[in-house]
Amino acid sequence: MARDRGELNREGFARYKDDVRKEGKPFFPYGLFHDTVMSLVVVGVIVALAIIWYVDADGTEAGILGPWYAPPAEPGTTEFIPRPDWYFYFLFYLLRIFKWPESVFIATVGIPTICLILLIGLPFYDRRRERHPLRRPVAMTAALLTVVAMGVLTWKGATAREALGSELVLAVPEWAERQGFADNAEAVRGAELFAQSGCMNCHVYLGEGNANLGAPDLSAIGETNDATYFVQYLTNPAAFGNNVMGSYAYLGEENLAALGEFLASSKGPAGD
Ligand code: HEC
Repeated sequence: MARDRGELNREGFARYKDDVRKEGKPFFPYGLFHDTVMSLVVVGVIVALAIIWYVDADGTEAGILGPWYAPPAEPGTTEFIPRPDWYFYFLFYLLRIFKWPESVFIATVGIPTICLILLIGLPFYDRRRERHPLRRPVAMTAALLTVVAMGVLTWKGATAREALGSELVLAVPEWAERQGFADNAEAVRGAELFAQSGCMNCHVYLGEGNANLGAPDLSAIGETNDATYFVQYLTNPAAFGNNVMGSYAYLGEENLAALGEFLASSKGPAGD
C-alpha cells in the first residue's frame, strides 16, 4: 500500500503543471503590474512620511514626528550610554542575558549560527508539499515561538535601564568607613553621586576606577582644598585650566554641594 516518496513527488508535480496550464497567468503583464503597484505604494509611503516629518506648522523646526535636528554630538563625552535602534533591541537584550565572558560566545555566534543553518537547510529537510498552516504544527509552533521570543526580547530591550555605576555604588559604605565620613550624610550622598556620574571613568578612588587622560587619584584630594573650591571646580573645570573634564553644573547646586563635601572629606584612608 505504501507508495514511495518519488511517486508522490511526481504526482504532485504533475498536478502543479496542470494547475499552471489551467489557471496560470503570464508574468507579463500580470506579475509586472502587481510588482509595479506594490513598489509605488512603498515609495509613496516613504515620501508621505518624509513630508509629514518636514511640515513645520509652528516654526519650531519640528514636525509632529519629532525635531528636524537632534543636538550636535559631543565627542568628548564619557557618559554616553549607547543604545541600538529599536529593531536590534532583541539582539541587544539577548546579549545582556548572557554574561561576559563565559557564555557570550553562545549569544553572539552560537545561537545566530544555529538559526542560520536551520534556515539554509529548510528546503532540504522540510520537503512535504503540505502548505496549510494547521497541518504544519512543527513549523507553525517554531514560527510562533520565534515571533513571541523576539517580541518579548524587544520589549525587554526597550525598557532595560543601564546600571551605570551601580557596582561602584556598592563600594560607598567601605569608602565612608576608610575615609571616616560615615557620619556625614551629605558626603555619603556625594560619594554615591561620584560613583554614578562617570567620574571614575577618569579618576581612581581608593584603588577603584580608571586613571585616564591624566586625571589624578582623588583618594586624598580633600587635603588640598575645601568643599567650596570643589563646587567651583566642578561647575567650570575649564576656568581652572582643565579642558578634559566637562562641566558638571547640570547636576544642580545641591548635588554639587554633596560632591564638594565628599571630595573635601576625602583626606586619604585613616592610618595609611
Ligand atoms: C574625562 C575625564 C574626567 C572625568 C569624567 C572627570 N574628571 Fe576630574 N579631572 C580630569 C583631569 C584630566 C583632571 C586634571 C586636570 C589638571 O590637572 O589640570 C581632573 C581634575 C579633577 C579635580 C581637581 C584635582 C586637583 O588636583 O585639584 C577634581 C576635584 C576632579 N577632577 C573631580 C572630578 C569629579 C567629582 C568628577 C565627576 C563628577 C570628575 N572629576 C570627572 C578628568 C576627568
